Amino acid sequence: MIHLRKSGLTILILLLLLTTVACSNNTEAEPASGSEKKYTFKLAHITPTDHMWHKAAEKFKEELDKRSEGRMKVEIYPASQLGTEADMVQQISAGSVDFGFITAAYMSSRAPAFTAWFAPYAFKDLEAANASRDTEIAKKILATLDDQGIKGLDYLFAGNRVMLFKDKEVKKPEDMKGLSFRVTPSPPLQDFYKSLGASPESLPLPEVYAAIQTGVIDGMDMDLDATITNKYHEVAKYGAVTNHMVWPAVAMMNKEKYEKMSDNDKKIIDESIKAAAEYAVKTRSSQEEEFKKTLSDEGMKIYEIDQKLFEPYIKEFDEKYGPTDPLIQEFIDTFRK
Ligand code: BEZ
Repeated sequence: MIHLRKSGLTILILLLLLTTVACSNNTEAEPASGSEKKYTFKLAHITPTDHMWHKAAEKFKEELDKRSEGRMKVEIYPASQLGTEADMVQQISAGSVDFGFITAAYMSSRAPAFTAWFAPYAFKDLEAANASRDTEIAKKILATLDDQGIKGLDYLFAGNRVMLFKDKEVKKPEDMKGLSFRVTPSPPLQDFYKSLGASPESLPLPEVYAAIQTGVIDGMDMDLDATITNKYHEVAKYGAVTNHMVWPAVAMMNKEKYEKMSDNDKKIIDESIKAAAEYAVKTRSSQEEEFKKTLSDEGMKIYEIDQKLFEPYIKEFDEKYGPTDPLIQEFIDTFRK
């Protein structure tokens, strides 16, 4: 009887020991599969909540939640709530914000290879631009963020660039001469408009409406989505749907945080961002005609300018920027076929 009690006690002690070891392995480091770890991420971007980038952020949040079975949550900070893009990137790099959807235009001022995305008329349409996400060169450009503590995850395309004019119907590049024209603060974009003869005004998005309304600027470089969400049709009479440049957001994450994740959790992040990017481009492509109609109905004259008229300026861009960086040259060589 005593013997039986003793062996029962020994088995109990052994079981307790095994459980303790198993538990300490589970809580101490990240589990091998990453399947237990919970996250609440912060994601920041600059667009209003009705812009496609915000909808893509919501899709990303939904995908993470679904794919991680509720372990990965995201708090989204839209509309520059966390500051300018410069502030956001600084916070992502430092790790106080986890994710950002940041314009490639801004990124071109921190990592010059992003300039490549502003090669005018590099893609036939939005789908062709979207397909470029999977190319070696697109990935190499993302990797230039590594030494800034940032993991470049992917690109979100949500509409190409168009030109809006307050009260002049610009029909050819030469008509731009002398116009004060809002361009995002990004050197390749500024240079492109300078080459067209315009005087680029470097204004961030929140200042654009008042500037055109009061006549500080005569026009702007924009996308159709932001034209509608910011109601620029109220203050600009003409919309030239040139689609002359793509406008990717760079989806990025704090690199250290990404690298500390298990392979399984990294996969969840990668696949969720991919799903959000596909969703954005698919939805946005189907809206092109609807957006043009909405703007026409609001009284804006919507028209096109023949791409051929821009050929000398495309050449000028390639000749100026190709030699500045092997990645920009590789991009040009890859997509100008
Ligand atoms: C802009 O600065 O023109 C812009 C930024 C983000 C989304 C759309 C437009």
